[in-house]
Amino acid sequence: MGIVLGIESSCDETAAALVSTDRQIIAQRIASQTEEHAPYGGVVPEIAARAHAEKLAPMISDVMAEAGLELSDLDAIAATAGPGLIGGVMVGLVSAKALAMASDVPLIAINHLEGHALSPRLADSSLEFPYALLLVSGGHCQILIVEGVGEYRRLATTIDDALGEAFDKTAKILGLGYPGGPAVEKLAKRGDPGKVPLPRPLVGSGEPHFSFAGLKSAVLRAKESAEYCDADIAASFQQAAVDCLLDRLRVALGPHNDIPALVVAGGVAANQTIRSALEDFASANAMRFVAPPLALCTDNAAMIAWAGAERLASGQNDPLDFVARPRWPL
Ligand code: KG4
Ligand code: ZN
Repeated sequence: MGIVLGIESSCDETAAALVSTDRQIIAQRIASQTEEHAPYGGVVPEIAARAHAEKLAPMISDVMAEAGLELSDLDAIAATAGPGLIGGVMVGLVSAKALAMASDVPLIAINHLEGHALSPRLADSSLEFPYALLLVSGGHCQILIVEGVGEYRRLATTIDDALGEAFDKTAKILGLGYPGGPAVEKLAKRGDPGKVPLPRPLVGSGEPHFSFAGLKSAVLRAKESAEYCDADIAASFQQAAVDCLLDRLRVALGPHNDIPALVVAGGVAANQTIRSALEDFASANAMRFVAPPLALCTDNAAMIAWAGAERLASGQNDPLDFVARPRWPL
């Protein structure tokens, strides 16, 4: 058994975690910067980088102390090396490089999306490759086939906004503050999902891609019309999002009807309405449905450590001069 330290700092969560190659989360710390960014209605890169720089080193010390481990006890140090806000990514990657160099432990540079893509296997040891993955977060909206560690086939992506971004913008329009996803979901519980006529962009198109910019604009028009209450707008928006996801999945997975499991990952996977719609879709298509526990859906370091453990098991690591990548498609 090996132990991997994981570091995440690509957006507004600073996190460190120790995960074993036999799927135990030994210790973890996570600090959200929500309060720092809330006055600006979104993540401010400069503030994020500074907060990561302040919080990360004590967090790493804390997880090591809690586990009673020295750096030299580690089998690898894995850090998010992109994609994300470059200042924050550099804080985490440079810290990992320094620790790796000082303790002579291998460095593993992780693509943040790979962390999300493999996280369901941390929670579920029975999840084998290949599986279909719907990755829905603040920055990404993709359908992939995960064929193995490092083997990702992208079937669909968004041509404008990511779904999490659409939730965040809807929240802003409705005056719900930041981060928006959980607030929209809560308000939607009190609304009528059939009340506000909203578009389903790209639904019916033969290409499986996503588009959410038009949906967001329609939400703005609905709000400005003053014809509808906020709860009905939130519920109708969420229903439109569900309809888009299901239609796009149908088109993307049509030619791949031998894939045994549908997995959802990324922050939007925390949404219960979306989860249960996906669960129904999977069972209608004779696929197993797998969703990681909520804490593993949003950004965290255990998923980065686990991606490191998977790469370590397949004999991979990275040189200490690995350069951070603000853009890095899977
Ligand atoms: O994966 P994540 O933590 O960070 C990125 O890599 O983007 O995802 C954050 C996104 C935000 O846009 C947030 O509003 C959304 O996930 N989100 C949700 C919910 N919880 C988080 N969206 C809808 N419903 C939720 N319950
Ligand atoms: Zn993420």
